[in-house]
Amino acid sequence: MDELLDILSLPLPDEVRKAIEEILGEPDAKEELIRLGILKVIKGKGGEIRLGVNLSEGSLDYDPRYWHNIAPPEEIDTSRYFDYDEDIHLQLKKWLRLDEKVPKTIVEVGCKSGQFTEQIIKMASNLREIVAIEPDDVLREYGERKFEKLSSKVRFLKGAEEDIPLPDEFADLAICHIVLNNLPDILKVVSEMTRITKSGGIVVAIEPSGGNIHYYPDPKLNELADKVDLAYGKGVWDLRVKMIDYSKDLKQKNARYAEVFHSCGLVNVEEHGIISAVLLSDPRRDRQEILQWLKKRLFIHENDWKRVEMILKRGGLSESLIQEYYHALRSYLENLINHPEQISKTHELETAHRTVTIGFRPEKK
Ligand SMILES: C[S@@+](CC[C@H](N)C(=O)[O-])C[C@H]1O[C@@H](n2cnc3c(N)ncnc32)[C@H](O)[C@@H]1O
Repeated sequence: MDELLDILSLPLPDEVRKAIEEILGEPDAKEELIRLGILKVIKGKGGEIRLGVNLSEGSLDYDPRYWHNIAPPEEIDTSRYFDYDEDIHLQLKKWLRLDEKVPKTIVEVGCKSGQFTEQIIKMASNLREIVAIEPDDVLREYGERKFEKLSSKVRFLKGAEEDIPLPDEFADLAICHIVLNNLPDILKVVSEMTRITKSGGIVVAIEPSGGNIHYYPDPKLNELADKVDLAYGKGVWDLRVKMIDYSKDLKQKNARYAEVFHSCGLVNVEEHGIISAVLLSDPRRDRQEILQWLKKRLFIHENDWKRVEMILKRGGLSESLIQEYYHALRSYLENLINHPEQISKTHELETAHRTVTIGFRPEKK
């Protein structure tokens, strides 16, 4: 019963708390909660077993420790469409030494459902294998299914960055993309990435360095989307920070990547910056592809709405603004889908900033 009391000390959504409290007094409360799917048995990395609240997909609510609840795989495939246009690929290819002829074994840590993995495949001229590591089962399994059709060179592995299930000196390149900024102990993570990298190999972290800008040319939608962004961030992070034991130095973390790389024994550390900017109306883009992407966005907006709505409520956005945003974005997307000739005049813009930190594992003497 103590375990259940521990669980109640978490910042649970009201409906989950109520459900647990109602059953607590009953004789086999724990078994009943598991049977109802409200509690789940979680096996830890060391084989230890503990109880968790099942807040995953399809259950009463969601648990923001698991990334698929923050960004479900289908959503990731569309919202990140803008990152890394062709110009950026060229730049990254050079910095990451992916244009060299030597076959490369690459390890990507925190790969989610493989969105950035797809970009690596496009950039690496001579790829032996990518081992893609992801702790979240929902995202990893989605990625596995996706890559069955896309490439046979990607192998997914369950694992966390602090404990990568690979031998020493395995990779020519160990890379993570928007992962360090979410983790409490970056030193531990970078030293583990260094361990699995061969001497002479490269460790890379590509991390956000500033907020993205998403601009809608419709002033009403633009204003609503800004409020939604703020509330979404609050809805996810307030709860996430309460549930995850982040250590003290979250703040200013991204200013310290080079320093951390150096302390892990990496040499010749480089720091680069990228900003990708993509305009919906750009005449160089394929109209059919844009149309497909707009349709996917609309599908996700409608089908993932319950989850988004809950997060926005938690982030303090009023019911009326939430509804207004839902309808405004839906009409915006429907209008473009029904009148594709408008695309070339619709200057929706997204910019994304990243820093790219690169370090080399010293050659053996
Ligand atoms: C912001 S996402 C970035 C994902 C992916 N690299 C991309 O660019 O699409 C952060 C990812 O790190 C994963 N993650 C969380 N904790 C982790 C850990 N301890 N080790 C490795 N990955 C972790 C999350 O599940 C999530 O997939």
